[in-house]
Parts: sequence; C-alpha cells; structure tokens
Amino acid sequence: MIIEPRMRGFICLTAHPKGCEQNVKNQIDYVKSKGSIDGAKRVLVIGASTGFGLASRISSAFGCNASTIGVFFEKPPTEGKTASPGWYNSAAFENEAHKAGLYAKSINGDAFSKEVKQQTIDMIKADLGQIDLIIYSLASPVRMHPETGVLHRSTLKPIGGTFTNKTVDFHTGNVTEVSIEPANQEDIDNTVVVMGGEDWTMWIDALKAENLLAAGATTIAYSYIGPAVTEAVYRKGTIGRAKDHLEATAFTITDSLKDINGKAYVSVNKALVTQASSAIPVIPLYISLLYKIMKADGIHEGCIEQIQRLYSQRLYNGGEIPTDENGRIRIDDWEMRADVQEQVAKLWQEATTETLPQIGDLAGYKQDFLNLFGFGFSGVDYDADANEMVMVDSIN
Ligand code: NAD
Ligand code: NA
Repeated sequence: MIIEPRMRGFICLTAHPKGCEQNVKNQIDYVKSKGSIDGAKRVLVIGASTGFGLASRISSAFGCNASTIGVFFEKPPTEGKTASPGWYNSAAFENEAHKAGLYAKSINGDAFSKEVKQQTIDMIKADLGQIDLIIYSLASPVRMHPETGVLHRSTLKPIGGTFTNKTVDFHTGNVTEVSIEPANQEDIDNTVVVMGGEDWTMWIDALKAENLLAAGATTIAYSYIGPAVTEAVYRKGTIGRAKDHLEATAFTITDSLKDINGKAYVSVNKALVTQASSAIPVIPLYISLLYKIMKADGIHEGCIEQIQRLYSQRLYNGGEIPTDENGRIRIDDWEMRADVQEQVAKLWQEATTETLPQIGDLAGYKQDFLNLFGFGFSGVDYDADANEMVMVDSIN
C-alpha cells in the first residue's frame, strides 16, 4: 500500500508508519547528540505519543536512560486504514527503546478514566515499583468525567466580547479576518474541566494513594502564554482559564506532596505546530511569522529541542530549578524575547495573502504539519509499500 496525506481541514486522515518512525529516530538522534542528562530514571508520561509528550518520553529514555510508561489515546491500524500518527510514533519508540535495552511499555486508552489510571497503577506495581517523574501532556477537546459520566467539551473562544483578527488557512495560504463569538459561562467551565488541572490532581492522588511516588518525585504539566495578538483567543480566552487552573493546580499538588518532598511544576513552552495548536484560530498565522523570525535569528526550536533544553537546563541543571515570579518554568523565553515579539507585532500588521509567503514561514508551517503525520521526511521512500510496519505487542 502506498500511503499519501489526505487532508480534511485541520487534520490529516492518514499517517505514514515509516515517516513516523523516521520522526522518532530523528528526535532520538537529537537527544543523544546532546549528551546524557542526570535525570529521573522511572518516568510516566501522560500524553506520550505526539508533540511535547513524545519529546518528553524520548528525552527521558534517550537522555536520562529512563524506564518509561507512556499513556495516550491513539487509533491502531485497521483493515484499509492507517493508524493515527501517535500510534506509529509509540510503536517506533518502543522498538528503539527495546533495542537500546530500555524498559518501555504503553497504555492506549482514555487517560481521564479510572480504568486507565488503574491499568497504569498495576503496571507500575508489577514493573517499576515507584515513579520519579510524571509528565502531564494531554491535549484533548473532550473529557468524560470519571465521577459523573458527563462528556465535557472544551472550546477556543474569547471571553467578554467578540474577537476579530487575522488568521491563515495554512493549506491555501489565504489570510482572512476571523470573528469568534464570546464564550458563555458554560463554555468556560467545560474548558476548565477538560484542560484544567483536575485530572492532573486525580492522577497524582491515585499514584500517591498506592505509594507509587518515590521520595522527591516531580510532576510537570505544560502551559502556554504567548503574545498580545493571540491573547484574546488564547491566554485570556476559555483555554487560558483552563491554563490558569492548571498553573494553580501545581501549587495544590506540591502541597499534597509535602510528606514525600515532591514537587509539581508547570513549564511554559513555545508555540509549535502540533495537532492541538493547528486547530486554534489565529495561532497558525502567529506561528508562521514567529518561525521566520526565530529561524533567521538561529533560535528556532521544535518540541524535542524544547524538552531537551527543559531537562538539561531547567530540571536537571545540577542546581535550583529556575522559575518566574509565578513559580513557572519558562522555556518560552526565546519566543517571548522583546526583540522577537517586536518583529512579530510589526509583521502582523503587514501580513496578507500576498505578503505572507515572503514575510512568514508558511512553508515551514506546512512542512511541520506534514511531519506530524509522518510525511515529508527525507530518508523515507514514500513510493515503497508501507505495509510491513512492525507491530508491538504491548500497544493495542
Ligand atoms: P498533542 O496533540 O501533540 O498531544 C496530545 C497528547 O495527548 C497525545 O499523546 C494524545 O494521544 C494524548 N491524549 C489526548 N486525549 C487523551 C485521552 N483522553 N487519553 C489519553 N491520552 C490522550 O499536543 P501538544 O501540543 O503536545 O500538547 C501537550 C501540552 O502542551 C498541552 O497541555 C498543550 O496546551 C501544551 N502546550 C502546547 C503548545 C503548542 O504550541 N503546541 C505550546 C505550549 C504548551
Ligand atoms: Na503531548
């Protein structure tokens, strides 16, 4: 079977197993090239199959020589249909980890559910005893609440008034104006239920209740702040309320871990092309301008560069973990540099369908988007039969 990208709006319906494998191998090679990191050895990554979570799993395994358990929600391949990219990424990751003699197992299911938490607990008990680091990197549009059974949907809406600004359809390069109606209280509440810190707390509580957190255990969740141009729809919108809640949750989790000297942090990461961020209006235009500037300045990073830096220069730098005045770890420091943001703000004014190919990195955006699904990698023969993807026993 020859697999080609089939785009539908913000997603691609197909994924390429060999390309996903190449993506994982490239990330592994990057982490290895940066040298070993003296970090946590038993790591649980929740949201481990794509984006920042995958980069975290790779940085732990191939940077810190860690055993990893990865939790994610991905579609396995079926007759005539490819798997979702995160499934192929995880299969490739497990193969590479096993080749390197590293423990790696995965749980494919709804991380919000009690069942998946229980499966994870059982796996830790059977295999690792305790956990030293828990990365919480879920990005989901929905959450079935484990207590009430209610299905909550998150939204990406402004709060208080209609938001109108520029956006780009990154497939066509068309820059248009988009207007988004403001959220009501229910939208806000639902978004906080899905993307806030409640489930993070539930995970940590469940692990602690079973004595599965090692002394000094650390947990990290990922957040975003971003620039003025996206503020209304991101940080001051419904998703921003959820991030506020997530960031506040770091403090309550740290309080709950006092007796084992554990700590919870939020790391604020850079804007990057992932399945989650491509669906947010305005953000793709911002990212294409940002990429252009950061690449020209030699400070562009992808997920793996971000997380490798998080580990080597923040978490495991041999000293204190540096944080901002709100206790957050900042690896969005280069994105948020005043000179970078001034340039973005200026280009934002100039951005039109006609100017964007020159002033923005639309090509880089598209390349990254294709890469998410395993397309566009050099070293992969896309004309070859892609059928013989190695299956991994522990992923279903
Ligand atoms: P992503 O879409 O690449 O990854 C999401 C992960 O969550 C995948 O592993 C997916 O399988 C998993 N997942 C989703 N629903 C699940 C469920 N019900 N059960 C189990 N697993 C589930 O997203 P990402 O961009 O890497 O986002 C991860 C975190 O990083 C989010 O908190 C996001 O807000 C944050 N972040 C993203 C950006 C960005 O620009 N992409 C920037 C800063 C922070
Ligand atoms: Na992730």
